[in-house]
Amino acid sequence: MERVLSGIQPTGAVTLGNYIGAMQRFVQMQEEADCYFCVVNMHALTIPQDPELLKQRTIDLVAIYLATGLDPAKSTIFVQSQVPAHAEAAWLLQCVARVGELNRMVQFKEKGKGSESVLAGLYTYPVLMAADILLYNPKRVPVGEDQKQHLELTREIAERFNRDYAEIFTLPEPYIGEVGARIMGLDNPTKKMSKSADSEFNYITLLDEPKKIEKKLKRAVTDSENVIRFDPVAKPGISNLLNIYSSLSGKSIKELEKQYEGLGYGQFKKDLIEVTIDHLAPIQSRFYEIRNSGEVEQVLKQGREKAAAVADETLKRIKDAMGII
Ligand code: TYM
Repeated sequence: MERVLSGIQPTGAVTLGNYIGAMQRFVQMQEEADCYFCVVNMHALTIPQDPELLKQRTIDLVAIYLATGLDPAKSTIFVQSQVPAHAEAAWLLQCVARVGELNRMVQFKEKGKGSESVLAGLYTYPVLMAADILLYNPKRVPVGEDQKQHLELTREIAERFNRDYAEIFTLPEPYIGEVGARIMGLDNPTKKMSKSADSEFNYITLLDEPKKIEKKLKRAVTDSENVIRFDPVAKPGISNLLNIYSSLSGKSIKELEKQYEGLGYGQFKKDLIEVTIDHLAPIQSRFYEIRNSGEVEQVLKQGREKAAAVADETLKRIKDAMGII
C-alpha cells in the first residue's frame, strides 16, 4: 500500500484553508493509502508561544483530526514531539541541507522579514519538515500550495543524501488538490487565508459558530458584476467563494456556475452560508464529544508507538550511513 504523510501546526484555530487544502483530503486518502498524520508542535515553537496554550492546542488539533473523520484504525495519528526521531533526524539533515537552499525559502523571508531577532528555528524549520517526511518514506504528501517549496527542498535533501551517503529515501511528491489548494482571505482575496491574519474577517475556523460564519461570509469581498463566474484574476473574491462552495458541497465549479446562472450574489452567499454551517456542524459536535472523552490520549498512545516503529528504523539507517554511532 502506498505510504502518505502530512502534518499541521497547532498554532491557532484551524481555518477552512487548512481544512480544504489539507485535512479534507487526509480523510479521503486514508481509504486508499497507509497514512501518517501528525500534529507538528515543534514547528509551532519557531514563533513564540504560550506553553500552556500550546499544550492545549496540540490536544485540540488531534481532536479536530478525529472529528473531521480521521480514523485511528485506518490512519496513524501522532504528535511530532512524541516521536523523538524527528528532532534527531532534523539535526542530521541540517548537515545535508545548504544555507543557500534555506535562504531561498519564501515563507522564511515573508515571516522573518529580515529581522535579526527572528528565531533560528524559523530558519531551519523546513529541515525539520523534511525530517518529518523522510523518516516515513511516503510517496505522496498532501498539502496546500504554500508548502510546495518546502517539498521541493525535501526532495533535494533526499536526493543529495541518497547520492552522497546511501540510497535510503523515497522522493516524496507533493499532492496538491486541483480545487482549494489555495483558499484566499475572505477580506482580501489576493492573499491566502491564514490563521495569523490581523482581522478575523479573513478566515472561517472549523469551530466558528453559525452566527459568526454568517457574518463573515456576508462581509466577504466580491465585486460589482453580480455574476457567478470562476475567474481568479478578474474576480478573485467570487472565485474563492466558488472554491470553498465546491469543496464543501462536492459540486464542481462548472455545476455551480450553471446553478447560479441569472442569480445574484445575495442568493449565492445565502446558500454558501447554509452549506458551510451544515458541513461544519457535525465536525463541531464530534469535536466537543471527543475532547471530553479521553479518546485523544488513547489514540496518541497507539499512534506514537506505530509511528516510532517506522521512524526509529529509518533513523537507524540514516545514522549508520552518516557514521554516527
Ligand atoms: P500549516 O500548519 O501552516 O498548514 C497546514 C496545511 O494547511 C494548508 N493550508 C492551506 N491550504 C489551502 N489554502 C490555504 N489558505 C491554506 N493555509 C494552509 C497548508 O498548505 C498545509 O498543508 N510546514 C507545514 C506543516 C508541516 C508539514 C510537515 C506538512 C510540518 N511538517 C510534513 C506536511 C508534511 C505548515 O506550516 O503547515
